Amino acid sequence: MKIIIINGPNLNLLGKREPEIYGSNSFEDYFRQLQSQFKDIELTYFQSNIEGELIDKIHETGFSYDGIILNAAAYTHTSVGIGDAVKGVETPVVEVHISNVYERESFRHTSYIAPNVKGIIAGFGLQSYELAIRSYIK
Ligand code: DQA
Repeated sequence: MKIIIINGPNLNLLGKREPEIYGSNSFEDYFRQLQSQFKDIELTYFQSNIEGELIDKIHETGFSYDGIILNAAAYTHTSVGIGDAVKGVETPVVEVHISNVYERESFRHTSYIAPNVKGIIAGFGLQSYELAIRSYIK
């Protein structure tokens, strides 16, 4: 099974950025942990701060991968383009957030991605990604 984790803007700063909200681990360290936890799954990781690069990666993987775990970060709340990309591909997408966006500012309550995803996991810290992986295991 092939699953890609796609992280959007500012998530390259995980570990340094607002640690009271996003924790103090880097995503690279956590990703290595996930790879050793799910040895039977071919896990890939991609991060970009650029909207078009996120769309390109969804297109590139969205017809051949078994799963896309997408934390589009701030673009979740603004990007019709990423929403359309998710709608346009075949691979089921799980929307993930580290924080519970629904207990935060109201602009974080809107998602342009949510209408076309398999499910949403938010608020479990980095563990949100592990839960998303588990959702693809039968
Ligand atoms: C986030 C929540 C978004 O509102 C925010 O812009 C992020 C990260 C999360 O993982 O909790 O950058 O997607």
